Amino acid sequence: MKIGLVGCGAIGREVALAVDRDIPQLELSIIYDVEKAKIDFLLKSLVKKPKVASGIEEVMREADLVVEAASPKIVGELLTLASKEEKDLLIMSIGGVLDHLELLESIKREGKCKVFFPSGAIAGLDGINAAREKNIKSISITTSKPPQALLNAPYVIQNKIDLKNIKKPTLIFEGNCKQAVKAFPRNINVSATLSLAGIGMEKTNVKIIADPGITKNQHKIEIKGDFGEMEVVVRNVPSLTNPKTSYLAALSAVATLRKIVSPVKIGT
Ligand SMILES: NC(=O)c1ccc[n+]([C@@H]2O[C@H](COP(=O)([O-])OP(=O)(O)OC[C@H]3O[C@@H](n4cnc5c(N)ncnc54)[C@H](O)[C@@H]3O)[C@@H](O)[C@H]2O)c1
Repeated sequence: MKIGLVGCGAIGREVALAVDRDIPQLELSIIYDVEKAKIDFLLKSLVKKPKVASGIEEVMREADLVVEAASPKIVGELLTLASKEEKDLLIMSIGGVLDHLELLESIKREGKCKVFFPSGAIAGLDGINAAREKNIKSISITTSKPPQALLNAPYVIQNKIDLKNIKKPTLIFEGNCKQAVKAFPRNINVSATLSLAGIGMEKTNVKIIADPGITKNQHKIEIKGDFGEMEVVVRNVPSLTNPKTSYLAALSAVATLRKIVSPVKIGT
């Protein structure tokens, strides 16, 4: 299967190296990035050199499956192209889907392509997928971050929250996912993934805690439903090449590709 890569940053690089060296059923056939330096840096590390595209349309034409690891801004265009060209798509900038939910619905109806959303920086989507077969009563996510990681969030600025003087874990926001993505856009991928997998933006509860005692971002997901109750906690190590990205997110992209081609699939 020919893989096309859009975005050669932290996640794209991890995906490219895994496909190049470690997933023999896949071939990295074409790559693209708006920054030429990122392409050149990646090419140096690859054993088999892929073609370099001049834009995302060329990636879509050449590849069987396109991996997006670039920006939420191009997600709408990629969904449209994938449906038109009948090519599969793996999306990492999942927050970018929220403005194009109608496109996703038409892809579901028409069934001309497949779209994969890896679990990214969170865990527990396997359990949510199973739980969704019957009634889910509630889903909530509590994200704890070191105060400095929340400094530039619109909600913090608007509400003049003095993060520098927070001395103990402090709840600074509670609302639904729809409100949370506006208030804390850097949490958007996590919120979007959880909402798409579960019961939607309006019904998913989000709490944000500023915690001066932690160094790693932490997500605690709690679900209640006909199945019982589930709690999942993830404490994420940042990626070496992009500290804003959790290493687990890059690994989840690689694991999703591996699962697509594996004859044996474990977990829902
Ligand atoms: N799903 C999740 O849980 C999760 C977690 C972390 C990051 N992400 C998202 O995944 C994406 C990639 O993350 P990353 O850490 O690799 O980022 P990064 O900044 O390290 O790399 C992104 C790369 O994409 C390139 N790029 C930007 N706009 C582009 C465009 N229009 N066309 C082609 N290339 C473009 C940049 O030049 C850069 O090289 C981001 O949108 C990020 O928000 C998702």
